[in-house]
Amino acid sequence: MKRGAVVEEVSAGRGVIHFRLNRPILAQKLLEQLCSEPDGFGVKSELLRHLQGGRTLVEFSSPNIAKKFHAGHLRSTIIGNFIANLKKALGNEVIRVNYLGDWGMQFGLLGAGFERSGSQEKLRTQPLEHLFEVYVQVNREAECDESVRSAAAEFFRRLERGEDQALALWRQFREITVDEYKRIYQRLGVHFDHYSGEAFHQHQTQNVLDELMTRGLLKTTEKGTAVVDLSGAGDLSSYATLVRSDGTSLYITRDVAAALDRKQRFGFDEMIYVTDKSQTVHFRQLFHILLAMGHQWAERCVHVAFGLVQGMSTRRGEVVFLEDVLEEARSRMLNNMRQSSTSKELEEPEQTAERVGISALIVQDFRGPLMSDYKFDWDKVLQAHGDTGVFLQYTHARLCRHARETYSCCDVSPLVDSRSVSVLQHLLRYDEVLLQSANELQPRHLVNFLLTLSHLVAVAHRELPVKGSSAAVAQARLCLFSAVRSVLANGMRILGITPAYPK
Ligand code: ARG
Repeated sequence: MKRGAVVEEVSAGRGVIHFRLNRPILAQKLLEQLCSEPDGFGVKSELLRHLQGGRTLVEFSSPNIAKKFHAGHLRSTIIGNFIANLKKALGNEVIRVNYLGDWGMQFGLLGAGFERSGSQEKLRTQPLEHLFEVYVQVNREAECDESVRSAAAEFFRRLERGEDQALALWRQFREITVDEYKRIYQRLGVHFDHYSGEAFHQHQTQNVLDELMTRGLLKTTEKGTAVVDLSGAGDLSSYATLVRSDGTSLYITRDVAAALDRKQRFGFDEMIYVTDKSQTVHFRQLFHILLAMGHQWAERCVHVAFGLVQGMSTRRGEVVFLEDVLEEARSRMLNNMRQSSTSKELEEPEQTAERVGISALIVQDFRGPLMSDYKFDWDKVLQAHGDTGVFLQYTHARLCRHARETYSCCDVSPLVDSRSVSVLQHLLRYDEVLLQSANELQPRHLVNFLLTLSHLVAVAHRELPVKGSSAAVAQARLCLFSAVRSVLANGMRILGITPAYPK
C-alpha cells in the first residue's frame, strides 16, 4: 500500500473484503482539500472530468400565456433549474431557455375576448389574473355563441397576417406576462437567459416544410394533411402530422423550427427539454424527424420526463398561478415557525419562511424518481424533522452557528472517532453522487446524499460537543462542521435551494 494512502490495508475474509482506513489521513486529506477550495470540492473531481466542458441548452418551465401555471409547470421549473445548476457546477456553459406557449388559436380567443371584456387598468395591476379571467370567460362564451367563435377566428387570422393592431395587443400580453414571470421566478431563485416561444418559430415553419419537402420526407395524405413517415418501413404505420388540412402548422412543426434555430444560434453540444411525461411521444417524434433530416446532433437531445403531482392546491383552491404556491408555502411555513417560536430570533421571518417553504417543495419533489407520480401534502412537505427541505435548512442554520466562529484549517488528527469518520466517509462520496445525478439527470441521488449527511450531522452535534472539549479537539470539530456546512450549502444550491443564513 502506498504511504499516506487513505486505505491502509486491504485483506480478504470469507466472502468479504476488508478495507482498513487510515483515519488521521482520511481527515487530513479531505479537510485540507475542503479548506483550500470549498467550492471546488466534488465538482472538480477527476471522476467528473469527462463530463466537463461543452455547451448545454436547457429548456424548461415554458408556461402558456393566459393559461394556468399548473403543477407540471412548477415541476419543470425546479427540475430544469436543477439540471442547469448541475451542468454549470460541473463546468459546462449553460443556456437557460423558457419556451412560452404564445401562439395558436387561443390567442384568437384571447384577443377577441379582450376586445369584448378586457381592461387596460386590470392588465397593469394584475396581468396574469386578468388575462386568465378574460380567457376563461371568452372560452365559456365561445361554447354557445357562434359570433364569438368567428370573432376569435378572425382575430387569429389578423395575427397570422401580421396586422399591426392585433400584433400590438398580442405583444402587450406577451411582454406583460414575461415581466410578471421574471419577478415571480426571482422569488423562486430561477432565471432564464432567453424567453423564446412558439410565435417566434411560427415564422420559420415554412423553411422547415420546404426542407422536408426537398428531402422527400413530407407526404401529403388523402385528408389533405402533410405528414412525416416515422415507421421505418415506409408504410405510415407511425407518423407525425406537420401541417393541418387547413394549411396551418402544429406544435411539433414549431418545435422542429425551434430546434434548428437554437442549434444555429447557440451551437449547443446537448439540448435538454424538461416536461411532464405526457409529451414523451412528442419529443421522440421530434428527435426522430431531426435525425431523418440528417441532423446527427439530435442524438444529443434529451427529453427529461416527470410524473404527475396530484392534489396540489392552496386555501384558495386549485393552483392557477405560480405565485399562489409561493404564497401558500410562505404562509404555512410562517405559521409553523410561529408555533415553534423560531421566528422570534429572525430578522426577516417572512423571507426566511418563503425560502424554507420553497426548499421544502423542492426536496419533496426531488426525493423519488422523477417519473413517479405523487400525491402532494402540505403538512408532510413542511415537517421540520424527517427527510424534508425544512430539515436541510435547519441543519444548515445550525452548522452556521459554528462556522461563524472558525474556518481555518487546523490539526484535524483528533477526528478519528467513529462519528467523525462516518461523516468524513460520507463526504468522500460527494463526487460519485454528482456523477450519478449528472448521468441520470435525476436529483434524488443528491437529495438523499444531503439528507443522510444531515442525519449524520445531527448525531455528530449530539456526540461531538465543541464546548467543554479541549482546545485542540474543539478546533478540529469546528473544522469538520464548517466543512460539512460548505458541502451542504453547495449541494443545496445545485438543487435550487437557497440556504437561509441565520443572522
Ligand atoms: N408550453 C408547453 C406546455 O405547457 C410546454 C413546452 C415544452 N417545450 C417544447 N419545446 N415543446 O405544455
